[in-house]
Amino acid sequence: MPVILTLFASSNKEDYEPDTGCLKEYNGLAMYHNSLLHQDVIRLRGKYPRVKISYTDYYYPTINVVKSPGLYGFIDTPLQVCCGKGGPYNFNISENCGMPGVSACPNPSAYLHWDGAHLTEAAYRYISSTWLDGPYADPPLKRLHN
Ligand SMILES: *[C@@H]1O[C@H](CO)[C@@H](O)[C@H](O)[C@H]1NC(C)=O
Repeated sequence: MPVILTLFASSNKEDYEPDTGCLKEYNGLAMYHNSLLHQDVIRLRGKYPRVKISYTDYYYPTINVVKSPGLYGFIDTPLQVCCGKGGPYNFNISENCGMPGVSACPNPSAYLHWDGAHLTEAAYRYISSTWLDGPYADPPLKRLHN
């Protein structure tokens, strides 16, 4: 997320993943959090067998787009924010989307990131498809009620 990349920017190149430009530690934290959450969802399912509960993952579909934006119809600078101003990611915590003098790009559906903290509708369309049909939901939501 551009807000994380901006707040925790590092001068040490080693802190960044070479294939994504993301901060290694924060992606590691996301994956660790999600694996614990997934385990707990499985545990809850065992404890309450009559409750339908799905684990949906936000990290993997998002990182897919960051790694191969063109494959999903996004611009090839996937860490750039559509609605923002300045800085390496077009994101400035002091000059946010919605403030005077801050404008949105003309083609938001080509962007992954809307305002630095939220994704675009186009990104959510892709992510939701991976939750409805799989593979980033356990079970996929379309199979939850069968
Ligand atoms: C962010 O916005 C503040 C307030 O307008 C400004 O002083 C600062 O230089 C901006 N930073 C970047 C990186 O553009």
